Amino acid sequence: MALVRKKADFVGDTVQLEAVGLRYADGPEIFSDVSFAIPQSSFHFLTGPSGAGKTSLLSLMYLAKRPSRGKLMLFGDDVTDAKRNRLPAIRRRLGVVFQDFRLLEHMTAFDNVALPLRIAKVSEAVVERNVSELLKWVGLEEQMQARPSVLSGGQQQRIAIARAVVHRPKLILADEPTGNVDDAIAVRLMQLVVELHKLGSSVIIATHNEHLVARFPFPRLHLNGGKVTALPPMHASEIGTAAS
Ligand SMILES: Nc1ncnc2c1ncn2[C@@H]1O[C@H](COP(=O)(O)OP(=O)(O)O)[C@@H](O)[C@H]1O
Ligand SMILES: [Mg+2]
Repeated sequence: MALVRKKADFVGDTVQLEAVGLRYADGPEIFSDVSFAIPQSSFHFLTGPSGAGKTSLLSLMYLAKRPSRGKLMLFGDDVTDAKRNRLPAIRRRLGVVFQDFRLLEHMTAFDNVALPLRIAKVSEAVVERNVSELLKWVGLEEQMQARPSVLSGGQQQRIAIARAVVHRPKLILADEPTGNVDDAIAVRLMQLVVELHKLGSSVIIATHNEHLVARFPFPRLHLNGGKVTALPPMHASEIGTAAS
């Protein structure tokens, strides 16, 4: 993926950042002049050490944070200063897996996953079929009627992933989505996201799990020192080296 492209090439990209800077309150900039474009239907890992800014960068993309300077485009629209009343419509095209899950505690696993479909006014018959199928796929057939608080961290994480993908979003943003599950489930969850990618969704997965990154041949956006570097898919021989 070319990091520097002509403006005309940007049209239709899923995410574009141009010279973006981000600071929290009056702290230092954690990104400076970050520019990249994520083409439609692409798959990227977002890598970098803890504290490098992976979560912050994803927060910019789902508009929970606004750039301190620079320009942010989503699906070809300039959303740098998008008004609050535009956010729900924009976010309906996104599927976000939060590092801390953010499940609704008063709802069952089923209802949490059903939420994006119900917001989109999908018929209950379709909701029933799609949510059941997805929860089976992530291995939670027995837990569909359970509330999140009685489930393990790994089970909650799987609900969060199912909720993020159930409405087939154009862009899936996942923050350490396999941090709480064992390797076999991590690979299964990755396969789910890869299937959605094959159906046309763009995917960005923030992770510091090198073994997971090395297992899938997807390019990386690597964050370090406030800069983003485009890297090719990780080779297993790189595991444990600094650029992972
Ligand atoms: N809400 C916040 N207020 C102030 N500083 C923050 C906040 N969130 C993150 N930071 C700072 O921004 C930097 C990047 O953090 P983060 O995006 O969480 O990185 P990562 O996800 O790669 O671990 C860190 O220096 C962190 O301390
Ligand atoms: Mg993080």
